[in-house]
Amino acid sequence: MGKVTLSVIKADIGGYVGHSSMHPALMDEAKEELAKAKERGIIKDYRVLHCGDDLELIMTHTKGEDNPDIHKTAWDIFTACTEIAKKMGLYGAGQDILSEAFSGNVKGMGPGVAEMEIEVRPSEPVIVFMADKTSPGAWNFILYKIFADPFNTAGLVIDPKLHSGFKFEVLDVYEHKKIVFDTPEEIYDMLVLIGAMEHYIIKRVFRKDGEIAAVSSTQKLSMMAGRYVGKDDPVLIVRTQSGFPAVGEVLEPFANPHLVAGWMRGSHHGPLMPVGFGQANPARFDGPPRVIAAGLQITQDGMLVGPRDMFDDPSFDEARRMANVIANYMRAHGPFEPHRLGLAEMEYTTLPQVMEKLKDRFVPEE
Ligand code: F6R
Ligand code: MG
Ligand code: MG
Repeated sequence: MGKVTLSVIKADIGGYVGHSSMHPALMDEAKEELAKAKERGIIKDYRVLHCGDDLELIMTHTKGEDNPDIHKTAWDIFTACTEIAKKMGLYGAGQDILSEAFSGNVKGMGPGVAEMEIEVRPSEPVIVFMADKTSPGAWNFILYKIFADPFNTAGLVIDPKLHSGFKFEVLDVYEHKKIVFDTPEEIYDMLVLIGAMEHYIIKRVFRKDGEIAAVSSTQKLSMMAGRYVGKDDPVLIVRTQSGFPAVGEVLEPFANPHLVAGWMRGSHHGPLMPVGFGQANPARFDGPPRVIAAGLQITQDGMLVGPRDMFDDPSFDEARRMANVIANYMRAHGPFEPHRLGLAEMEYTTLPQVMEKLKDRFVPEE
C-alpha cells in the first residue's frame, strides 16, 4: 500500500444556539455528502464531528495534500450546510465562508485545514485535536510539551527512538515566513518566538529522519478577510507510538489547562478545557475554550477505525475542575487585561469610536 493522506478540514457554518454548538441537521448533511464522496472513490473514509460551532470533516484519501477534489468536497459541504443553516435560521450561517467562488483550495477562504500524507505503518494510531473559542497559537504550548519537554514526554529521555529529538517548523504569520528549529539543541531560541503565540505558530513537527509527526491548521481569518470575522478555531493532527510520543504523552499536556486567546468575542484569555465529545458545547461566557481529542487507527488501505473519545476519561476531571477555577479567577478581572486581550489582539473593539468621541478632550499633560 502506498501513501495515505489524512485531511481535517473545518468551518463554522452556523451555530446552535448562538455560537455554542452545532445542529445535528448539519452533521447529517455532511455525513450524507461524505458517504457519496466515498462511494464515488474521491475519499477512502471519513468521520464527522463537531467542536462547539465548528463542523469537523476528517477524511482519508490517496490524492495528497492540497488536492482540489478533496478541498472542493469540503467546500461544497460547507456551502450546502450554510444553506440549511440559513433556512433553519441558525446563528451566523456561513460565518467562515468568506467567498462565493471556490478557487481550487479552501486555504485563505475561511475554513481551517490540517493535512498530512504518510506511509501508513502496520499500525498507525493518530490523535486529531479540535478546539473551539481559541486560535492556532493555542497548540504552541501543547506541541512544545509533547515533542520537546522531557518532563512531559518520558520517551525523549528513555526511548532510543525519540532520544535525538524533533524538528519544529515555525511560521511568522505577520511576515509570511517560516523557520525550522532543531530540538533539543535550539529550544531557547525557539521559545523566544513560540512563547508569542499570536505571532509565531508551530505549523509542523518532524522526526530528525524527516518523518512527519504533527501538523496544525494555521489559517488566520482576521488577516484573510482584512478584518476579524470569527476566531479561527484550530485543529491539530499528531501521530503516536513506535518512534513518536505515546498516546498518553500526547494527551498529557492537556492535564494543565493553559491560558489561550479566544473565549467571549474572541477577545479574552481563558483556560483551554479538555472535554469529551458530548461536552464540546461552550456556554459560560461563550466558553471557556474547549478541546476534544479523537483517537483513530488508520488501516493500511486508508480506512479509519474509531474515533475513541480520548478526553472522556476521569483522569481529565481534575483538569476540567482546574479550568473552572481558573475561569472564575480570570472572569473576576472583567474588562481588565490580562483577561481581556491587548488592544491589538481583540476581535471586537470600540476603541476607534471612543477615541473619536474623546479626541478634543485630550489636553497636554502638565
Ligand atoms: C467567539 C464567539 C462568540 C461571539 C459572541 C458575540 O469566538 O464566536 O463569543 O463573538 O457571541 O457574537 P455576535 O457578535 O455574533 O453577537
Ligand atoms: Mg460561530
Ligand atoms: Mg467556533
